[in-house]
Amino acid sequence: MKHTEIPHPPMMKPMLKKKLAAPALAFTVLAASMATSMLTWAQQAPKPEQLIKWRQSAYQVIGWNSGRIKASLDGSYNKEEVVKAANTIAALANSGLGSLFVPGTETGKGWRDTTVKPALFADGSKVREYAAAFSTEANELARLAAAGDAAAVRAQYGKLTRTCKACHDDYRVSGS
Ligand code: HEC
Repeated sequence: MKHTEIPHPPMMKPMLKKKLAAPALAFTVLAASMATSMLTWAQQAPKPEQLIKWRQSAYQVIGWNSGRIKASLDGSYNKEEVVKAANTIAALANSGLGSLFVPGTETGKGWRDTTVKPALFADGSKVREYAAAFSTEANELARLAAAGDAAAVRAQYGKLTRTCKACHDDYRVSGS
């Protein structure tokens, strides 16, 4: 069989020879290294705005899923829906939300102005107690949701929402 030279793919050769190739490459490398150093910086010290956005987002997702459970309890009970919602709340309750409340985020804007009360940052052990209760009740709700007994879920959902209210009463601006 006769050897034939494989030609360059049509686009490649002219592009490599273009005058612009070198500056374009330099720019790409510069942009990439800037992006990398920005990422490194972001990992070391997330901006207050980012931390507030994360916690507001987490609580919004918790609110969404709490509403799904309530809808099931108020209407016709949908076990699958309640399991998904309870597992999501438990995952967020266990995720270490406390790490999003660092000094420097007592005030400021995430998706909107934060509604945290500055007292949260001073009351370490009490806040941890509230957070632990939230986690315990959320895990128990997830366990009961999987078992599928609607009456037990209803009672446990009541316990869970009391942990929301306790924390909000003390650490979230009322009416927000
Ligand atoms: C340990 C304390 C704590 C617990 C427990 C807690 N929250 Fe909150 N929640 C907060 C704080 C603090 C904010 C204000 C966050 C901010 O604006 O920076 C908040 C904000 C919210 C918001 C508004 C988010 C936004 O867009 O600004 C919703 C909705 C919410 N929580 C729902 C719930 C529900 C539902 C539960 C229980 C299933 C719950 N939370 C449990 C402390 C708590």
